[in-house]
Amino acid sequence: MKLDIRIFKDSEKLSQHAANIFTAQAAQAINERKRFLVVLNGGSTPTRLFQLLATEYREKIEWAKVHIFWGDERCVPPDDAGSSYGQTRDVLLSHIPIPDSNIHRIQTDPSAGSGRRLEPAEASRDYSLTLRGFASPLLNVPRFDLVYLGMGEDGHTASLFPGSPVDVTELTLPVTAYYQDRPANRVTMTQLVFNQARMIVFMATGEKKAVTLAEVLSDRYNPELLPVQRIDPKNGELIWLVDEDAAGKLPRRLSRKVCEG
Ligand code: 6PG
Repeated sequence: MKLDIRIFKDSEKLSQHAANIFTAQAAQAINERKRFLVVLNGGSTPTRLFQLLATEYREKIEWAKVHIFWGDERCVPPDDAGSSYGQTRDVLLSHIPIPDSNIHRIQTDPSAGSGRRLEPAEASRDYSLTLRGFASPLLNVPRFDLVYLGMGEDGHTASLFPGSPVDVTELTLPVTAYYQDRPANRVTMTQLVFNQARMIVFMATGEKKAVTLAEVLSDRYNPELLPVQRIDPKNGELIWLVDEDAAGKLPRRLSRKVCEG
């Protein structure tokens, strides 16, 4: 597959481009299939994208036809600072006219306000069932119109961590092992789902990610240690949106395409 790497001056320009992609993909999917299935990521990088979608881009999107999913989640209640759903709710969901029934979060608490939380295995099973409900008939998994992903400095994406099993058969996995001493209590979609998407957009910013970015985009294939390399859409586009700092260690042949907006 041809690498599509788009380099931006800063994270503001990158986020605007990511919002333009959202708007265009949503319009096309709604036009062709009457709905838009999108997977959001957690972490800090997409926050500006969510703000833009909630403000400048709000009126450009037919929110009633948008269905939102998450690529991974920490098993904490939604009001916990670590909840990706909670972050998205505060910055995006509470500002747009989207029906509650279109928000498909990874349920980590059995019922609102119960104060309990689901264990990763149970939350993962539940989310697999949610995904099966949106499965494309021929594939048995959903064919998402757009998936946003981030990259950790260690090469993880979603909650697929270095050292985790590469050959998976499940749509979602509970993550309970400690990877590099990081306590994990999460649920993640696997590459079996991501790789069926029509479009996958990675966003990575900051100098600290430069070495890892150069490694994951090199010819050295090591999906066990660099889970980002497990992402390889079978019949879709893969686009990298990176800022100049994150692109700093890319070889010249990969770093030519600098975008203005
Ligand atoms: C999460 C993720 C995770 C994230 C990367 C990058 O919820 O933490 O889905 O994979 O995308 O760790 O995180 P930053 O955007 O904060 O660098």
